[in-house]
Amino acid sequence: MEMPTINSRAQQMDAEVISNKRLGAYNHIVLAVNEIATYAKPGNFVAISVGGAGSSMVLRRAFAIYRAQIRPDGQGVMELVVAPHGNGSKWLASREPGESVNIVAPLGTAFGIPTEPVRALLIGGGYGSAPLFALAENLKTKGCRVDMVLGASTAAKIYAPLEGKRSVNSMTLTTDDGSAGTQGRVSDVLPSVIEQNQIEIIYSCGPMAMLSAITDIANRFGVMHQCSVEESMACGIGVCMTCVLPVEGRDGITRMVRTCIEGPVMDGSKVTWSKSREIPDGVWGK
Ligand SMILES: Cc1cc2nc3c(=O)[nH]c(=O)nc-3n(C[C@H](O)[C@H](O)[C@H](O)COP(=O)(O)OP(=O)(O)OC[C@H]3O[C@@H](n4cnc5c(N)ncnc54)[C@H](O)[C@@H]3O)c2cc1C
Ligand code: FES
Repeated sequence: MEMPTINSRAQQMDAEVISNKRLGAYNHIVLAVNEIATYAKPGNFVAISVGGAGSSMVLRRAFAIYRAQIRPDGQGVMELVVAPHGNGSKWLASREPGESVNIVAPLGTAFGIPTEPVRALLIGGGYGSAPLFALAENLKTKGCRVDMVLGASTAAKIYAPLEGKRSVNSMTLTTDDGSAGTQGRVSDVLPSVIEQNQIEIIYSCGPMAMLSAITDIANRFGVMHQCSVEESMACGIGVCMTCVLPVEGRDGITRMVRTCIEGPVMDGSKVTWSKSREIPDGVWGK
């Protein structure tokens, strides 16, 4: 079996913060980068060093790349949507324009784009919607119909910028507390959205429990499901094995694979979803 390796285009660099704006529960951060902006694809992530020089936070933090492009003036930019909750993400969310952060990007796998136009459903939980808007634009240029379902605990935690809403055919919102859209979870509205729009492929990004529930529904409807998993990552570059998940390979054998290298985008039907952190029986080597 060939061992997957880190993206050969990935670079480590100091990136200046161009802007940092609070939007609902999140910070929208724009970083100045070099040509890596042209290599980053929806689904890829960036590993960011947090805390500054001498910080005890030695592990980089992973963030999905919301959008990356070269601006007309030639400046490469990378945009992130950050939920400040722990010390690392709070440090990042408090960076001022003009300060720099050390990044490694682009990392991980990207969402696969079909060669023919298909009817696609994009599902995001919380900041999990971040990589889906650039994906929606890519799918649109391929002639796909794109529907979107976004869910969160409460309205302020739904990340759905106006320009993002314009790039989809329909947008369905769900919140646990009913403060926006339908009260409930994305999995509650999924069967009807799949049926109404005759969905052929699902792309998703969000908490693991959500991805597991979507996989069950996608399997029931016989719909392909590419999901971006969010396993804890300590190094982000394939060295530490913190991020492993049980995933069935092409040979039918389930192995613990590194989601920072073989993911974060994976075929949901191949993942053994489990709430427990134990290696399930039947996994190679157990
Ligand atoms: C692929 C991917 C994409 C993501 N995209 C986004 C995004 O777009 N926006 C966003 O807000 N968040 C995103 N996250 C989540 C984000 O990485 C975490 O919220 C962030 O790491 C939290 O850091 P913290 O210091 O604030 O929180 P803390 O909870 O204080 O620290 C979490 C950190 O501790 C370390 N850690 C946790 N568990 C273990 C373990 N078992 N072993 C070793 N180290 C461990 C990791 O370095 C982890 O990053 C993403 C995560 C992944 C994996
Ligand atoms: S995070 Fe270290 S191997 Fe994946």
